[in-house]
Amino acid sequence: MSQLATSPNPEQQFLDTFQQAIETQRFERLILSQYKGELEQLEKMTFRVISLQNEAVLNCVYRYKTQDVTKNYPLSEAVAQVSALLGCCKQANLLTLDEDLQLKKNKKKAMLMVNKKKAMLMVNKKKAEVAPATVTQGHDRSKQRYVEQDSPFLQHLSITDQHGQIIPSMARKWKQINKFVEIFSGAVEQLNTQDQPLHIVDFGSGKGYLTFALYDYLAKHQQMPYVTGVELNPKMVAFCQQVAQDSGFQQLDFFQGDVRTYAPEQLDVMIALHACDVATDFAIHTGIRLNAQMIMCAPCCHKELRPQLQAPKVLQPMLHFGIHAGQQAEMLTDTIRALLLKAYGYETKVFEFVSLEHTSKNKMILATKRKDYTAPDAAVLAQIQALKELYGIQKHSLELLLNDQWDQQDIGRKC
Ligand SMILES: C[S@@+](CC[C@H](N)C(=O)[O-])C[C@H]1O[C@@H](n2cnc3c(N)ncnc32)[C@H](O)[C@@H]1O
Repeated sequence: MSQLATSPNPEQQFLDTFQQAIETQRFERLILSQYKGELEQLEKMTFRVISLQNEAVLNCVYRYKTQDVTKNYPLSEAVAQVSALLGCCKQANLLTLDEDLQLKKNKKKAMLMVNKKKAMLMVNKKKAEVAPATVTQGHDRSKQRYVEQDSPFLQHLSITDQHGQIIPSMARKWKQINKFVEIFSGAVEQLNTQDQPLHIVDFGSGKGYLTFALYDYLAKHQQMPYVTGVELNPKMVAFCQQVAQDSGFQQLDFFQGDVRTYAPEQLDVMIALHACDVATDFAIHTGIRLNAQMIMCAPCCHKELRPQLQAPKVLQPMLHFGIHAGQQAEMLTDTIRALLLKAYGYETKVFEFVSLEHTSKNKMILATKRKDYTAPDAAVLAQIQALKELYGIQKHSLELLLNDQWDQQDIGRKC
């Protein structure tokens, strides 16, 4: 980032760039933080352009200590709204397709840093000949890449070739990586990180596609995180260590070990994507135990509940079909995970991560810690018991772990 020390009025320059980005449809996101104004408990605001009934509007999420409030403004009011709030914030980050700006203020002066996105400019200039780039989010949102295609780590992972082109057989992976970073970036923005570097662990990191992508994304957005990938397979760990070194990712490392016994000291963001079977439960448990602010997992190979499942009488004709019983067991496994997260103080969403045409492993559980959490929610725990009774379930690993009832002898069981 270069510092614009000569700028006579950094705040005005910041606002002008914001206005221009809105007018030229090159605006991505604006974050105002370290709010010091009169609105009690307001911490930060995130602005995007979204499409509402085919009309572009400025969407703002106001993050208060214990809740989020969302408001939409006509684009014609965008600069006035932001201008009024900017004066009360000590930091502002503007992301556009061409550059990222960071405005920092203290009692004596304001400082503006600018990071030009040369690679993006080249790509988007080409697009501009056909149609202006648009970053409107919503139903009619255009394709926006969250990972820059010329990032060297993509070549090391054989996703792009030496010319920076996506290798055709990796097109689905490329789509999945971008979708993952898109979801991750949206959620991470809402965290109250207070500008501290995030401690992130990716449980069952495999070949590290997603681990590298999130490290690269955060590093490019001036949030240098500490990221660890945990993986059983020593060959994959050695490979990923080499790629991290070749990519110059100094705060990314890989640990050869078992997710079920790995115990980090600090954990802000827990990631477990396609970690096999109950490895997901161990990872979620570690996240809850260490009070992670965000837990993001895409469960896979659900084996634990299927043999225990007893169909309630009325569902017997449906669950008589093996495929349905498998789907029901999977849904029940993930419902209990989501409800346990909810009971232990997390706002939890379950949704399709990437469309089925790209992968069958497409479900994501995304949970963010509520600030007002005090104790497990008895009503939600009762809902879990009722579901277990209905389907005759005796054992769910995440529940046992949270209740300190997990049998250590089970650690020998193969994943
Ligand atoms: C399907 S891959 C997913 C890799 C990566 N997260 C992704 O989504 O691209 C699952 C990985 O989890 C690893 N794994 C499974 N059980 C594990 C355990 N108990 N501890 C550590 N790694 C495990 C496997 O070796 C495998 O590399």
